[in-house]
Amino acid sequence: MTTRCGANPIEFIAKKRDGGRLGATEIQDFVTGFMEGRVTDYQMSAWLMAALLVGLDDAETVALTQAMLHSGKVLRFSSLRLPKVDKHSTGGVGDKISICLAPLVAACGVAVPMIAGRGLGHTGGTLDKLEAIPGYDTRLEARRFQAVVRDVGVSIIGQTAELAPADRRIYALRDVTGTVESIPLIVASILSKKLAAGLDGLVLDVKVGRGAFMKDLVAARLLARTLVRVGRAAGRRVVALLTDMSVPTGLTIGNALETREAIEVLGGGGPPDTVELTLALGAEMLIIAGVDARRGDARRRLEQARRSGAGLERFARMVAAHGGDPRVVEDPARLPRAPERVPVPAPVSGTVAAIDPRELALVALALGAGRTRADQAIDPRVGIELSARRGTRVTRGEPLAWLHVARRDQANPHLSRVSAAFAVARRVADVSPLVIGRVTR
Ligand code: URA
Repeated sequence: MTTRCGANPIEFIAKKRDGGRLGATEIQDFVTGFMEGRVTDYQMSAWLMAALLVGLDDAETVALTQAMLHSGKVLRFSSLRLPKVDKHSTGGVGDKISICLAPLVAACGVAVPMIAGRGLGHTGGTLDKLEAIPGYDTRLEARRFQAVVRDVGVSIIGQTAELAPADRRIYALRDVTGTVESIPLIVASILSKKLAAGLDGLVLDVKVGRGAFMKDLVAARLLARTLVRVGRAAGRRVVALLTDMSVPTGLTIGNALETREAIEVLGGGGPPDTVELTLALGAEMLIIAGVDARRGDARRRLEQARRSGAGLERFARMVAAHGGDPRVVEDPARLPRAPERVPVPAPVSGTVAAIDPRELALVALALGAGRTRADQAIDPRVGIELSARRGTRVTRGEPLAWLHVARRDQANPHLSRVSAAFAVARRVADVSPLVIGRVTR
């Protein structure tokens, strides 16, 4: 007998608690009941804990994703002929890839309607980085977002009240009830809001390592496989790359600093790892969009868009369409800049063997680049600029990094912590490749 949870949420909760499998209609009714006020916050929280402890199978996860997705508007781009593909990263340190990737892919003939997030825990968020651009509005309503995607080919906004509202409310409960760390709940949360943007395909960047939420490869692979299976079951083309997050991405951590670095990548420069990640993820996007069949061709197309300035031009148009100052493209000095730069000297000479991304992220957070409470304001100017990468030879006293701070004394409590985040040794052990694996089913 199926439990009509709209009528009896207690039986629905108990069924999962006792190890039962829930049907799609039951899950749909429960989520609808929650949105309509017939299921209370404490009943949803109890069910989330049961789901975390007992687990949800693929069919249940698909049903939860669909119920959350259809709790709000699902956008359609009926007059748009281009394929619509987005990218999602599970969160890292210095990860500014969306900002350079989305306009570059748009310049190659794919529409990119991107719903991005804010910083979560120690990780940074694309919205906070874009808001470092004077005037950039990440809160466009759905109709305007659709118009920008149609006109420019790319728009990056935050989740609005209209898109997957059940995810917003459920995520807020998970955040305070110890129920974030569940793969099926993470998958339903990510996919429901991403698919609300009316995508044909999605490329996932599942980060693994000390700077990521998934610290080991087994957990990251499980998350990647579940995302791909559930996304495909929801009728979308989905591919995941497992990528290394044992060191920060690029040379900057902090909002304006990272946006500046993304602009450098779009202009044909930028650190090699940031460029490589952009090309690797971009190639997957072009392939699932059907623009190219081979990775080599897709990478050449992206490189061409980077070298010709076509990606940069899309970026400037997107910024202008969002009310931002597109002159930051020609003149990045228009981005907010911290008044002080304080060096962190190398304590010994040698080769940088490791850089702890989490430690650096926590310092950036303490400087004001992120939030420890949802209502906190951030300082877009502050952060860390690395002057050494893994493998760089350094001499004692030379800067390993620079802290960008509002006042010099703000840097003092963090200098030894930043220095200790760099392991300087005689030689560097073998390191894992940037792209560790690819999951297609
Ligand atoms: N990001 C999301 O959007 N949802 C989660 O549950 C975890 C990370």
